[in-house]
Amino acid sequence: MAKLSESVSRQAVEATDTAAHVQRFAVVYEYPVQFTRGLFDPSNRVLADTVGRLEPDRRHRCLVFIDDGLVEEAPGLIERIEAYARAHAERIDLVGTPCRVPGGERIKMDLHFVEDMQRRVVEHRIDRHSYIIAIGGGALLDAVGLVAATTHRGIRLIRVPTTVLAQNDSGVGVKNGVNHMGQKNLVGTFAPPFAVLNDLDLLDSLPAREKIAGMAEAVKVALIRDQAFFLWLEHNADDLATFQPGAMAWMIRRCAELHMHQIAHGGDPFETGSARPLDFGHWSAHKLEGMTRHHLRHGEAVAIGIALDARYSVLMGLLEPGADERIAVLLEHLGFRLWHSAVAMTTPEGELVLLEGLREFQEHLGGELTITLLEGVGRGIEVHEMDPQVVRQSIRWLEARQAV
Ligand SMILES: NC(=O)c1ccc[n+]([C@@H]2O[C@H](COP(=O)([O-])OP(=O)(O)OC[C@H]3O[C@@H](n4cnc5c(N)ncnc54)[C@H](O)[C@@H]3O)[C@@H](O)[C@H]2O)c1
Ligand SMILES: [Zn+2]
Repeated sequence: MAKLSESVSRQAVEATDTAAHVQRFAVVYEYPVQFTRGLFDPSNRVLADTVGRLEPDRRHRCLVFIDDGLVEEAPGLIERIEAYARAHAERIDLVGTPCRVPGGERIKMDLHFVEDMQRRVVEHRIDRHSYIIAIGGGALLDAVGLVAATTHRGIRLIRVPTTVLAQNDSGVGVKNGVNHMGQKNLVGTFAPPFAVLNDLDLLDSLPAREKIAGMAEAVKVALIRDQAFFLWLEHNADDLATFQPGAMAWMIRRCAELHMHQIAHGGDPFETGSARPLDFGHWSAHKLEGMTRHHLRHGEAVAIGIALDARYSVLMGLLEPGADERIAVLLEHLGFRLWHSAVAMTTPEGELVLLEGLREFQEHLGGELTITLLEGVGRGIEVHEMDPQVVRQSIRWLEARQAV
């Protein structure tokens, strides 16, 4: 008996002494991003085929969350979705009328909306072989994405982005999240969707202001990745400024492709490092959104952030002089106003409030501060510090341009 317990305790010691077993496996993610028109036209098979992709011979329970702002501007859309589901009843089992949820930043401002959606998931017995279909702007997709990623540890999510920004940027990516404790996107996950269906017709009801805002991300990604795309944006600025369908369609497609390429081939899709390579112009943009309590749309704040960091790049000798003005002119041509009084706001001690955005930008990821600037049109470059004095000069330049 004594011998046995001796050997057991020796095993225990050996177990604690040995090196850790390394658990290692890789998961391949794959999701289609499909461009279409008339997604809910019964003759369009895209949605039905997407739902049936893995198990074509089954009916699938589908729970739809739809953006309230979209429903207001596109009367009859809910009825069309219901009619589509009836026409494809062999694949789609719509579990009740599509749920209208608040669109815009409001849905990300209160966890109660997330809980409410989770309750509906449970009530409608949505499981991991069912689908959540999210139809709306980037804010709705972020909030519904969080619900899909966390409820039952992950439900298949089909995203149907309905803003320019969501179709060309946020909707094709792998992130979700809501704001909490006063911090943007504090609660969220990395979770690739099951599919993304971009219906250009759904943009028809989008207000002009939102259409313009979404174009900032195209200018951004062109500036850091693709000079030819930047030249194309310049050449087509008139058509884009008047929302010509052909130009809008190409701008959205190219912008989405560049974002997708970065996620798939940038080496860090889940952003475990310190870099945020696609977030050019965003350190100040995120701060400005918060400072203006989201009166500035994300894209509007990004446009200001792009102009600011382009000027900063010139002042630091990274970017050729004059490129900053050229970039600002393009943004203005597209309809952006490159100023807001919040940009120059100071604390009682005279410090620029905007500069807090640098610290907050770093804290979101942790690690070293990493900011993308420009070393050419189409070429981003990462730096690890920003000179507050030069940021102030950049702001003065932006302010002076408004006065002209
Ligand atoms: N997850 C990511 O990777 C990522 C990336 C960039 C931005 N975002 C987030 O996206 C959000 C911004 O999204 P957005 O710019 O798409 O705007 P949004 O979702 O805030 O929507 C803007 C407004 O348009 C309405 N709307 C949406 N589609 C409509 C349509 N077709 N017709 C009429 N009205 C419509 C909405 O109800 C809302 O009032 C921010 O919260 C931002 O943080 C996320
Ligand atoms: Zn952005």
